[in-house]
Amino acid sequence: MTIERSLVLVKPDGFARGLTGEVLRRIEAKGYRLVALQVMTPDVESLHSHYAEHQGKPFFEPLVDFMASGAVAAAVIEGERCIEGFRALAGATDPTAALPGTIRGDLGRDWGTPVQQNIVHGSDSPESAAREIDIWFPEL
Ligand code: RTP
Ligand code: MG
Repeated sequence: MTIERSLVLVKPDGFARGLTGEVLRRIEAKGYRLVALQVMTPDVESLHSHYAEHQGKPFFEPLVDFMASGAVAAAVIEGERCIEGFRALAGATDPTAALPGTIRGDLGRDWGTPVQQNIVHGSDSPESAAREIDIWFPEL
């Protein structure tokens, strides 16, 4: 089995609501290991490359504005199949539809904002994880 790494962000909504500890608790309780952890306010340039796949979509600018609106907690996690595993912990993108038991389902809701504020980001493939870890933790 290959050990994977994934880039996790506690987004500005989750960080401002004091949910960083709860997100990290769930990651550690699941059995994944924290490799790196940092609090930072993302710069727009990093967000443009992080969300490159969404450039041109109607929610792109509101998404970047939201993500640049405050501090986030960025983490690299590690473990077998942790990319898929963290996506399962996070739940569906839309926090209203996300199942109870997931981070977004338990802790998130629709606030009527231009983009869904859904507490966490998690890489969606090994290729995305490598690309994203290089953006947020170039030293790794
Ligand atoms: P993430 O990348 O943040 O882990 O979330 P995801 O894979 O579940 O969702 P993705 O499709 O990559 O979208 C990135 C983020 O953009 C916002 N979004 N809003 N139609 C909408 O209002 C819409 N679509 C996407 C969400 O914050 C989503 O997490
Ligand atoms: Mg995504």
